[in-house]
Amino acid sequence: MDRSEKATIVLFGGTGDLAARKLLPALFSLWKERRLIDPAILAVGRRVKTTEEYLAFIDQQVDVAKKESARWAEFAKTITFHHGDISTEEDFNQLKASIEQIEREKSLPAQRLFYYAVSPRFIAPITENLASVGLIKRDSPTDTTWERIIVEKPFGHDAASAAELDGCLHDRINERQIYRIDHYLGKETVQNLLAFRFANGLFEPVWNNNFVEHVQITVAESIGVEGRADYYEKSGALRDMMQNHMMQLLATTAMEPPIALEADTIRDEKVKVLRSIRLPNGPTDVELSTVRGQYGPGQMDGKEVIGYRHEENVDPNSLTPTYVAAQLYLDSWRWAGVPFYLRHGKRLPKRATEIAIKFQTPPLALFRGTGVIGNCTNLLVIRIQPNEGITLYFGAKKPGSGMKVSTVEMDFDYQKSFHREIPEAYERLLLDALLGDPTLFIRSDEVAATWRWADAIQKGWDQLPPPQFPNYISGSWGPSMAESLFPSGNEIPSGSCPMGWRRF
Ligand SMILES: NC(=O)c1ccc[n+]([C@@H]2O[C@H](COP(=O)([O-])OP(=O)(O)OC[C@H]3O[C@@H](n4cnc5c(N)ncnc54)[C@H](OP(=O)(O)O)[C@@H]3O)[C@@H](O)[C@H]2O)c1
Repeated sequence: MDRSEKATIVLFGGTGDLAARKLLPALFSLWKERRLIDPAILAVGRRVKTTEEYLAFIDQQVDVAKKESARWAEFAKTITFHHGDISTEEDFNQLKASIEQIEREKSLPAQRLFYYAVSPRFIAPITENLASVGLIKRDSPTDTTWERIIVEKPFGHDAASAAELDGCLHDRINERQIYRIDHYLGKETVQNLLAFRFANGLFEPVWNNNFVEHVQITVAESIGVEGRADYYEKSGALRDMMQNHMMQLLATTAMEPPIALEADTIRDEKVKVLRSIRLPNGPTDVELSTVRGQYGPGQMDGKEVIGYRHEENVDPNSLTPTYVAAQLYLDSWRWAGVPFYLRHGKRLPKRATEIAIKFQTPPLALFRGTGVIGNCTNLLVIRIQPNEGITLYFGAKKPGSGMKVSTVEMDFDYQKSFHREIPEAYERLLLDALLGDPTLFIRSDEVAATWRWADAIQKGWDQLPPPQFPNYISGSWGPSMAESLFPSGNEIPSGSCPMGWRRF
């Protein structure tokens, strides 16, 4: 079992939503599993003043604190609160004193993980301030000292701002000290993609343009903007989801086998995929290969819901897309000619993330006229969330006289096979950062490669006439225009069809 080294974990944004919903519960789980050795957690914020007030505040925010109060109370002894303003350098001198005091009291080495769970505008100033008070430095790690930072998405707003941010960070620390988080990479099912592809002899031989007809990657959310309009109005579906999570799913699905399971060899292969994305050739190309959408009013679970333009803090004439579908090609030997379809939207009928690989139909329609449904779809569906697992759809003879074939499924379900809860992505990622393993974090060149594509799409949209929004009803599968983008004729018996598949 991997166990972290002794370290001080500094949570900037300790009073925020991410800390309460994900980070503290993840640290609690790791502590319960004895994967954190004598942790010291220092939460930073302004909303409360003292550790006592903070623990009372966090008790109300964190679900597990209420559910497992006795164990939580024990865990809470590892938490100290530091009241400070991260935008002022003077407060970092006090932060340094707090960290050093904790390290002295708990006999901890100067091993420090700084988690930036704050608005991205603070990434550069925090790093500057940490460096100027000597809390981080360009490292030459020793056995007993290191400093690492974890930064949340979004990393930049486009390629230029991401490069500028990288410049600020690289002025102060080395790339290997920077852990850019994309929590999708911490999901078991995404990591299983590597095991599925490279630990089996069965799938890799057909994982290419000789056998695959197309690939669909879908991230569907049933929620709307949920009070995050200030951020979302500037971001939209392309920047919020496609540029990061979906590009990571694409890269992990399409990458070549790495020469070893090591951070840089894996990331080298991913970045090759991202660089191989064919860029659209002007606005017409963008118009033909993408569909933008924005949700209007509708019904979710039988309840009336308002449209995006009526959400709090949203411009009533907003042109921010809450849905994007895109067709793209990878100019690589393995994937030449295979279309990849990416689709993401808010207020779709259900929350689900999946990767569907559609294999080519047999060269001869031998079973034509025998009741075969469609072309007897050979489809591999990897369910990232929920109901994590993998389903393979293929044709089988229907029992009885004659030769009738229909599509059946073979299913692997994580819960049923392994009889244990799937750990939260943040658990794995926090532990990896403490262990110094950056494999599941995004390297600077990956960020640049993903912005290259997203910027090209955004540039095309900027040159096209404004879209007619809203153009899909909340609770539907998105704008009807998207249907023309995706391939048709893939019929799977109802009840077993992967999410949204019939619409294609
Ligand atoms: N929430 C999520 O599920 C989620 C998911 C993925 C990524 N993220 C990313 O994670 C980051 C944080 O998101 P969030 O939802 O947790 O935001 P949030 O709830 O608005 O929390 C912001 C945090 O920043 C602190 N803060 C703001 N200004 C400060 C200052 N001058 N000095 C000290 N602390 C300051 C706030 O502390 P005080 O209020 O106490 O001052 C608060 O703890 C963002 O980059 C977001 O994009 C969040």
